[in-house]
Amino acid sequence: MKQEIGKKRIIIAIDGPAASGKSTTARKVAERLGYTYIDTGAMYRSVALKALDQGVLGGLRNSPEGVSALLQDISIRFDGDRIFLDGSDVTAGIRENRVSREVSFISSLKPVRDRLRVMQQDLGRQRGVVMDGRDIGTVVFPDAELKIFLVADARKRAERRYAELVAKSPEGVDLPDLDLLEEEIMRRDRDDAEREHAPLKKHAEAYEIDTSDLTIERQVDIVYHLALEKEVKGQ
Ligand code: CDP
Repeated sequence: MKQEIGKKRIIIAIDGPAASGKSTTARKVAERLGYTYIDTGAMYRSVALKALDQGVLGGLRNSPEGVSALLQDISIRFDGDRIFLDGSDVTAGIRENRVSREVSFISSLKPVRDRLRVMQQDLGRQRGVVMDGRDIGTVVFPDAELKIFLVADARKRAERRYAELVAKSPEGVDLPDLDLLEEEIMRRDRDDAEREHAPLKKHAEAYEIDTSDLTIERQVDIVYHLALEKEVKGQ
């Protein structure tokens, strides 16, 4: 990757609640900077998918310590826009609603967080990454040069999620209604913010950006320009 003189490749941490625009912003900022984008939510979703497919989710609710068996030998790998779980492409599977419903529970378990945190820190070791999630600025990379916290009105977020579902669902498939989506998003926000380990929280140094009334282009621009400043300063 080319590096301009006087510039330092940095780590950009983007946190925030569901559908606040993290992944779109992170992907586009990474593209413009020539950085790697890492979607940590996709990693938690992969663990949730594995638990669902192995039929162990109910059991884990009663005895969460059983999650260690699930994590043993787990492999999660990114290849461009695709994500592979134990060698299989799960890019589409991890977006299913059954996964969205269970992922907050799985991601509240300490052994899961410990394991994924180490994987994420390894992925960021070369720097030049944009990583999005819930605890990137607070726990995974508290030394990230640029920390962003995106927020948006819950109704707006539900509308965005709905539009995404319409765009990617084949015709004739039943879609959840907007009120239900809003409720699910708010429940997940609450679970993520109230959990004991690495709750969703804004780091004191993070720039908070409300994306309710911003276009994607505008929010990408704001983060991109902040990143350029930090690259030059190298701090
Ligand atoms: O895309 P969306 O905002 O719906 O969620 P996501 O980024 O795919 O993350 C899915 C879930 O994974 C979140 O609701 C959190 O419960 C969990 N997560 C987490 O705990 N820590 C992260 N760094 C990223 C995601």
